[in-house]
Amino acid sequence: MDLGQATLQWLHILFGTFWFGGALFANFVVVPVMMRLPAEPQQQFFKLFAAQSERMMLIAASGTILLGFLRGTVFGSIRDLAALSTPYGTYWLIGLVAASLTYAYGTWFLSPRANRVLEMAAVGVGPGGQISPELAAAINRLKVVALLELVGFFVVFTMMIAMHFAGAA
Ligand code: HEM
Repeated sequence: MDLGQATLQWLHILFGTFWFGGALFANFVVVPVMMRLPAEPQQQFFKLFAAQSERMMLIAASGTILLGFLRGTVFGSIRDLAALSTPYGTYWLIGLVAASLTYAYGTWFLSPRANRVLEMAAVGVGPGGQISPELAAAINRLKVVALLELVGFFVVFTMMIAMHFAGAA
């Protein structure tokens, strides 16, 4: 067993689990619970949650991508451009591009929209907690935008499994 390769893969899977698992947990546990809170604590919670998750997801995503890059190249079999045309190299490249796009999408598309919905919620919730139709529509759109991010993760994750079964480049 190559100890360097095994250590790098261990770290890569740890970071990747944190990133992907964090997105699944946020979408299917944290956000649904948050939506059931009254408007004021909901906004307070969301502000703290957004700031902390942005920080942690930056570490998790960049760690996953950097370690995955090194695991495929310096500690793997992708040593030249020709290796990218093998099944293993192609899956690795798709994983790299899909992960980078997923991170960019989450940071520059999804997060600003979530913040905007929060700003709308500050004025769109009535005294009895009733939600305006514009706010309800914005929340529904945001749910779809958030689910699309998961598609990116599923592509990356599938490439990891495909690489395993493709054998080295
Ligand atoms: C959400 C992001 C990611 C997750 C959850 C993830 C997860 C994993 C897992 C579980 C494995 C072990 C697969 C196995 O041996 O069966 C793996 C391997 C690997 N990953 Fe990732 N990964 C992610 C992103 C990336 C990216 C972006 C790259 C490329 C830059 C990459 C490159 C690799 C490589 C080269 C291996 C070794 C494959 C082999 O030779 O068996 N990963 N990853």
